[in-house]
Amino acid sequence: MGQKPYVYITRKLPAKIIRNVESFANVGMWESKNRPVPRSILLEEAKKADGLFTMLSDPIDEQLYRIAPKLKVVANLAVGYDNIDIQGATNRGIAVCHTPDILTETTADLAFSLLLTVARRLGEAMDYVKEGKWNSWSPLLLAGTDVHHKTLGIVGMGKIGEAVARRALGFQMKVIYHNRNRKWDSEKQLSVEYRPFSTLIEEADYVLCLTPLTEETKHLFSYDVFKKMKKTAYFINAGRGQVVVEKDLIRALQDQEIAGAGLDVFEKEPIDGDHPLLKFPNVVALPHIGSASVETRMAMMERSVENIRRVLIGEKPISMVNE
Ligand code: DGY
Repeated sequence: MGQKPYVYITRKLPAKIIRNVESFANVGMWESKNRPVPRSILLEEAKKADGLFTMLSDPIDEQLYRIAPKLKVVANLAVGYDNIDIQGATNRGIAVCHTPDILTETTADLAFSLLLTVARRLGEAMDYVKEGKWNSWSPLLLAGTDVHHKTLGIVGMGKIGEAVARRALGFQMKVIYHNRNRKWDSEKQLSVEYRPFSTLIEEADYVLCLTPLTEETKHLFSYDVFKKMKKTAYFINAGRGQVVVEKDLIRALQDQEIAGAGLDVFEKEPIDGDHPLLKFPNVVALPHIGSASVETRMAMMERSVENIRRVLIGEKPISMVNE
């Protein structure tokens, strides 16, 4: 039997996952749960790796491919893969794998929670009680905005968008969407209605961004877009931070062009603790936890391991980006 392949994992993962990889490969791992692998170490490891198990914080690019002659597979622990140069991988016959489907419902739960949290001012309300400020019941104390019977506008109607739409329909919301391609099946099955982007942003009470980051979507949400939204509308982003011009969002919040924002993603992650966005009481900020339930993250890790295993034995992986 030949030598086992070498797989480098760019973040410390649970022992159970490591054991799975060890069943078919020699394993190297960056031993921190919370800090990304330094670029210099990633590049050193890539030189000898047959497979890389990566996080969305690891840029996988031409510089890396050039020095990684054995590399056959990059498995990203996310459905998004904007951190990876796909064309470069394809040119070299490297399979890029990701983790779609298994995170759909969990990410939809978070996106809808973010909407509810912003609308009903739950972040402010929790702080209020914990800080001992609650003296008496009062008619308009921390009164928020209704969600039920309002209009949700989903920008980027993939599987997560459809899963959010199902939740919204349970809240008797009207759901409109914008997507590159019309989703005729969703329109029929979920009674969601298509709108051009410019109409959606004017009509929605909640604009939920779920688009992947591409050349087309980068900086899609600029000041002009926020200005066209209703002054009572909220902007929710559970897609990618760079779809938004953050300084324009700040200006729109300052000018009260929109009522508030719920953000799970940012232009630069992690966001600095003193970032101006974090100063607004009507902004809820989360640390990119869309798919972060233990069940789902474990399933995503297992999917990544299986994708790597299959590529290394010459089989088709379960979820490959560059088929
Ligand atoms: C993804 O899978 O792309 C998410 O952003 C990670 O939570």
